[in-house]
Amino acid sequence: MNAPQKTPIKQHLIDPEICIRCYTCEEMCPIDAITHDDNNVVVDAAKCNYCMDCIAPCPTGSIDNWRMVMEPYSLQDQFSWDELPEQQDLGEADTGALAEAMEDEISSLLARAHEGTGGKPAAPASADKPSINLYSRTRPAVARVQGNYRITDEGTGSDVRHIILSFGEQVFPVLEGQSVGIVPPGTKPDGRPHDIRLYSVASARDGEKRNANNLALTVKREEGGVCSNYLCDLKKGDEVQVTGPFGGTFLMPNDPSANIVMICTGTGSAPFRAFTERRRRAMPGAPGKLILYFGARTPGELPYFGPLKKVPPALMEQHLVYSRVPDSPKEYVQDRMRVNGEALSGLLTSDRTHIYICGLKGMETGVDEALADICRKHGLDWATIKPVMRASGRYHVETY
Ligand code: A2P
Repeated sequence: MNAPQKTPIKQHLIDPEICIRCYTCEEMCPIDAITHDDNNVVVDAAKCNYCMDCIAPCPTGSIDNWRMVMEPYSLQDQFSWDELPEQQDLGEADTGALAEAMEDEISSLLARAHEGTGGKPAAPASADKPSINLYSRTRPAVARVQGNYRITDEGTGSDVRHIILSFGEQVFPVLEGQSVGIVPPGTKPDGRPHDIRLYSVASARDGEKRNANNLALTVKREEGGVCSNYLCDLKKGDEVQVTGPFGGTFLMPNDPSANIVMICTGTGSAPFRAFTERRRRAMPGAPGKLILYFGARTPGELPYFGPLKKVPPALMEQHLVYSRVPDSPKEYVQDRMRVNGEALSGLLTSDRTHIYICGLKGMETGVDEALADICRKHGLDWATIKPVMRASGRYHVETY
C-alpha cells in the first residue's frame, strides 16, 4: 500500500532583512503565535491560524511573506535566518488542487485583512520605483549630522526638530514618502540592543538642498523616548546609524496633473514637506493641486510654521488648524475638511486625486468620517470610492 501523499502548507514567515523588530505583530497576534529571540521575530506554524490580524499593522511589510512547504520551518530555523529562504521546488506537490485552494484561501484572507484599512495598499501607478531595505541593523549606513534645528517655538512644550543627515560617499536613495530606520546606540536593561525607530523622510529625493547626498527628518522629543531623545540631542558632526529605506506604497505620484490632498498632524507633516519640495523643484507650474490640512495645538507648536508661511498659494493651498488657541474654538483637520466639503467632493470625482493621511492614529477615523459625510452631502458614496482609490494607489494612511 502506498503511504498517503502529504500535501504542502503555506507557511507564514517574517522577512528578517526587512523587519525592524518593533514587535507590533507580536502584540497584535491574538493567539501568541508570534514570538522573538535576540535575532528574529518569527511565526509558529503550529499555532498560526491565518487570522491575519498582524498583517495590516506591520509598518514595513516584512510580515507578508509566505512559502509553500512540505515540512514547516521550525522556530529554531527561523531564529537562525539572516534572510528568507527561497521557495523550494516541491515537484508535483505544489501544483495540487489542495495547494491551489490554500493559495486562494490565503489571498482572500489577506485581502480581508486589509479591508479595515480600505483595501490592500498600492503605490500610485505613476510613482517611481523605490529602493527598499538597502541597509539593515547588521549593515547600517553611517550618516553624519549636518544640522539639528528646532522648528517649533522655544518655550512651548513641543520640541520638534529638523535634523539633516549626510551620507557622504554612501548611496542612500529615497523617494518622497519613504521612511528610514534609526538605530539608537546602547542596549536595553536586558542587554538587547535598543529597537530601531522609523522616521519619514522630510526632504525630496535629491536631498535637503538639490543634489546634496543628504536627507532631513522631523523628530518630536517624546518624554522617555530613547530614539527621539537621542536624535533631538545630536550635534553637528555626530555619527548616526541608518537602516532602510522603507516603504513601497506611500509614495508621491510622478504626475504633474495629480491633485494631492495631504492631511496631517504634528510630525506627520514630514512626508508632505518632501512632496511639496519635489513638486516645487521638479514640476514647477504643475496643473495638479497640492492641498495641505495640518493640525497642531497652536501656531507655535506647528512644525515648520515659519517656512510654510513662505510657500506660495500657487504651489500649495494651506489649511493650518489649531486645537488649543486660547479664546478660539478647537479645530481639527477633519473639521476644516467639512468646511471645504464642496471643493473636496469635486476632487473626489477625479481619478487624478490622491489622498494621504499621516500623523496621530485617532485622526484616521475622524478624517474617514469627514470624507464619508462630505460624499453623502454631495451625492457620492465614500464606501464605493475609498476602495477604488486604495486599490489604485490613490489613498494612503500612515498613522502611529
Ligand atoms: P488636541 O491634542 O488639542 O486634542 P500633537 O501636538 O499632540 O502632535 O497633536 C497634533 C494635533 O492633533 C493637536 O492639535 C491635537 O489636538 C490634534 N488631534 C488629537 N486627536 C485628534 C484626532 N482624533 N483627530 C484629529 N486631530 C487630533
